[in-house]
Amino acid sequence: MSPNQATDWSTWLDAEIDSIKSSDRWRSPRAFDANGPTGILNGQTVVSFASNDYLGLTSHSAVKAAARDAIDRWGSGSGASRLVVGSRPIHHELETHLASWRGTESAVLFPTGFAANLGLLATLGARGVVVHSDELNHASIIDGCRMARANGAEIVTYPHLDLETLAVHLESHSDARQVVVTDSVFSMDGDVAPIAQLAELCARYSALLVLDEAHAVLEPTPPPQLGGTTIVQVGTLSKTLGALGGFVAGPAAVIDLLVNRARTYIFTTAPSPADSAAALAAIGVLESTEGAALRERLRSSVDRVRLGHPSPIIPIVLGDESAALRASQELLECGLLVPAIRPPTVPVGSSRLRVALSAAHTDEQITALLDALSTLETDGGR
Ligand SMILES: Cc1ncc(COP(=O)(O)O)c(C=O)c1O
Repeated sequence: MSPNQATDWSTWLDAEIDSIKSSDRWRSPRAFDANGPTGILNGQTVVSFASNDYLGLTSHSAVKAAARDAIDRWGSGSGASRLVVGSRPIHHELETHLASWRGTESAVLFPTGFAANLGLLATLGARGVVVHSDELNHASIIDGCRMARANGAEIVTYPHLDLETLAVHLESHSDARQVVVTDSVFSMDGDVAPIAQLAELCARYSALLVLDEAHAVLEPTPPPQLGGTTIVQVGTLSKTLGALGGFVAGPAAVIDLLVNRARTYIFTTAPSPADSAAALAAIGVLESTEGAALRERLRSSVDRVRLGHPSPIIPIVLGDESAALRASQELLECGLLVPAIRPPTVPVGSSRLRVALSAAHTDEQITALLDALSTLETDGGR
């Protein structure tokens, strides 16, 4: 029997792969053997400026020890979802600490930050709800909005940081229950949302404000209520906290509803005890004088690369995809791993290098980065 083009999987798979390859967008993960920013890539020692381990806590002795102790006590996995198998004490302990760290009534864990956004937005999004989303929000917010739409909510996207347009949209849906959702720090641009102004706008329409705090390491924690607006925070254990997992922190009623409705909480295995314990230990470091010193160090490294930039994510926009790839390759030849970010992750024509700084970078490593970047710039900003 000759293959039928419409039903044959291998024809379809080959065509999909070809279309990615022919547009020069084929990607695959590289093997990078590292603990902290420095590691071995293709036999070469390389310093990474790609990780979101902003304070270097993945390699912190107290964080690693907490993960090891948790494995010894509870084993490596948690076995099933929490509503089925029950929580380990470490899950509740971490949730209690997350709530007090974020200044909220309550918090709940998810397997990842991605799952937290899906679970929250699909739960809030229902018929009669309008969700307003910044156009540059993270993919997990976009997919959460898609799930909210499938549940009957209306999704309205506003241009990046354009509060005037957002105000018009909120006004034109003033008879609906409304949500505004935004990254606090945008993951590919490293710019920040104006939280006080957003909260003020939300207050006028009794809208909930959902802040994705995934990359918020240098900013102050948002209050639970601002100018009369209730703020719900989404966070991750996987970046600053050096582990793996996600959470939502906010009013107890929101958290209790998530436990009962969020499919990415109910129908998935609970986070591992080791990750939960590592994140708990990381919060301990963050809240100590050592944590303050690490943030201070990160702040001064950011200032060395771009004075006054609000976050450790520093984009160097080159426009052309091939220019970004070429620049990334040139930096790699100097022993610096700085990823090229291209469509579909960023809009066409805005391909860039994305520099992610960490308190774990040494002064010499930052100097090497600055030297290499200045060479790129003298080459005509390629
Ligand atoms: C803004 C933002 N939200 C959510 C996530 C997802 O978090 P996680 O990596 O824990 O799934 C990410 C990261 O990848 C992110 O950049």
